[in-house]
Amino acid sequence: MENKKKTYYITTPIYYPSDKLHIGHTYSTVQADTVARYKRLQGIDTFFLTGTDEHGQKIEDKAKEAGVTPKEYVDKIVAGIKDLWKLMNISNDKFIRTTDEYHEKAVQKIFKTMYDNGDIYMGSYEGLYCKPCESFWTETQAADGLCPDCGRPVVKASEEAYFFRLSKYADKLLKYYEEHPDFIDPPSRQNEMVNNFIKPGLQDLCISRSSFKWGIKVPINPDHVIYVWLDALTNYITALGFYQDDDSLFRKFWPADVHLIGKDITRFHTIYWPAFLMSLNVPLPEKVYCHGWVLLEGGKMSKSKGNVVDPVVLAERYGVDALRYYLLREVAFGADGVFSNENLINRINNDLANDLGNLLSRTVSMVEKYFGGTIPADRKAEPLDDELITLAAETKANTEKMLDGLRFSDALTGIWKFISRTNKYIDETAPWVLAKDEALKPRLAQVMYVLCECLRIISVFITPSMPDTGSEIRSQLGLGELTDWEESGKFGLAETYTVKKGKIIFPRIDAEKELAELEAASQPAQENPLKEEILGIAKINYDDFSKVDLRVAEITDCVPVKKSDKLLELTLNDGTGVPRTVASGIAEWYKPEDLKGRSVIIVTNLEPRKLRGVESNGMILAADLKDDACKVIFVDGVPAGSKVR
Ligand code: MSP
Repeated sequence: MENKKKTYYITTPIYYPSDKLHIGHTYSTVQADTVARYKRLQGIDTFFLTGTDEHGQKIEDKAKEAGVTPKEYVDKIVAGIKDLWKLMNISNDKFIRTTDEYHEKAVQKIFKTMYDNGDIYMGSYEGLYCKPCESFWTETQAADGLCPDCGRPVVKASEEAYFFRLSKYADKLLKYYEEHPDFIDPPSRQNEMVNNFIKPGLQDLCISRSSFKWGIKVPINPDHVIYVWLDALTNYITALGFYQDDDSLFRKFWPADVHLIGKDITRFHTIYWPAFLMSLNVPLPEKVYCHGWVLLEGGKMSKSKGNVVDPVVLAERYGVDALRYYLLREVAFGADGVFSNENLINRINNDLANDLGNLLSRTVSMVEKYFGGTIPADRKAEPLDDELITLAAETKANTEKMLDGLRFSDALTGIWKFISRTNKYIDETAPWVLAKDEALKPRLAQVMYVLCECLRIISVFITPSMPDTGSEIRSQLGLGELTDWEESGKFGLAETYTVKKGKIIFPRIDAEKELAELEAASQPAQENPLKEEILGIAKINYDDFSKVDLRVAEITDCVPVKKSDKLLELTLNDGTGVPRTVASGIAEWYKPEDLKGRSVIIVTNLEPRKLRGVESNGMILAADLKDDACKVIFVDGVPAGSKVR
């Protein structure tokens, strides 16, 4: 292993290309990008990895629904993810896809190594099985004995599967945590892992599946595919060439300095991943940093709730840097942050337009107005200037400490204190008064110089988090691209400044007008998932449709099904004169008295099936509403037996 001090390796989680990425995902990536940019500016040879996690049953199912192959399905979404990172100015050195051939081959070798060293064995996986869906469910998932996907009964079943001896690593993990108290950050997450997972007893981990195909084949048994988390976690080393002909990047950058992840995937990164690495005899990463979530006022963002906040809409509206700043500033270390359009606009107006934007535009305007753009060499310093010099040095030290510790919000809070202090300096020195007296010109020149120096230093501090804004400030100050973080520690570096007025870096926003427009602008984004979902459904032909017999039926009786909170037993008059029984999972939303006497649409020619002891002959049509509610389609007044088409 080469000297680690000169290198830095940071990773984000690899994202599932199943749903559209939202600002929560963007938050993970922007944090990692900020650190990577900061380390590069410090002259550290940095490798920043992100990518996509493309295997698994969910993707296989979605592709099937869309009528395309899984690879075709993910290719399209991955292209969108790459575009998003481009838009957000993400400077990753590599983008790994778990469908990349080099990764798949290396994962097979990893499996084989673990198998050969005795850590993988063939066992049997037990669960509740839905035969038509070929899916296993846990007791909690299928608590009512029905498949959560299709509503059909599940049965206890077992299938052959490979297991990883995770239980063997419990003590080793505890010892490792003890000896490396900084491994899991924040430490509260370590307590959670120890108390909730390791101490109660680690079970061996099922690491293969044979009920679906979309995955990396188990090298010693092609009927099985490798568990997605084993496939996904190893991306952090396969991306560097692990178990490949050229593993120079692995030798140079591993162990990772930090895996930056969201708190929900802590267990996978701090229990499974270290155990896999121990099994491979590979050193463990230095740190797993578990950040909080970006929430909405009503709770989590979710596709089904239709409240996913689209980073593309926000970045296009306010600029990439405003969004980057907001995400980094708003979510405090280890905690969750609540996103709201109002918060975002306030941050833009107060921190970016007022504090930073005004400081730049006032300074540049004054240098132009008082000195025609170039600050003269005849300058007179005063003790007040030293306060800023001292604060600049303190801010540098604090920013480094905070960025090294991935405390982004604290880093920005410190930088903004310095920005506010610099603004205050303008009020204290009152350049417009100095400008009135020719004799005070040297003092005025010095005040302008101090302001430009402070802005130069600020440009360094903010470049990792807001790269374009850093460049724009430097361009207006007449400076070249930033190449060295240490520049921020050198007050008095520039001999003088020749400024050049440029654009307003953050125009003020009319909050009221904006909030109304934003509300409207977010509508199409909210509709998009549904549009994609409906347009993506595979087509059926008329013959297929005509096989479904839909009829109007009147509900003549209705009683709850025993031992079920969900099912009602309906007796229907379908026009045949023979009463028909249908069991329907609508008890959560309808009482028997709401239904008796009402007319509904039924599918008459479904094969009978038994639900909680009731033989159900057909199905009544109902609409799924948001928040998992459901509404039966009533057609009162239409005669029983009428055909619906
Ligand atoms: N594919 C796995 C990761 C495998 S890493 C070897 C995965 N993917 S994900 O797309 O579901 O999530 C990726 C990351 O986004 C996770 O770190 C998750 O915590 C993060 N976030 C998802 N929603 C989030 C918010 N609302 N807020 C902040 N981060 C969030 O998990």
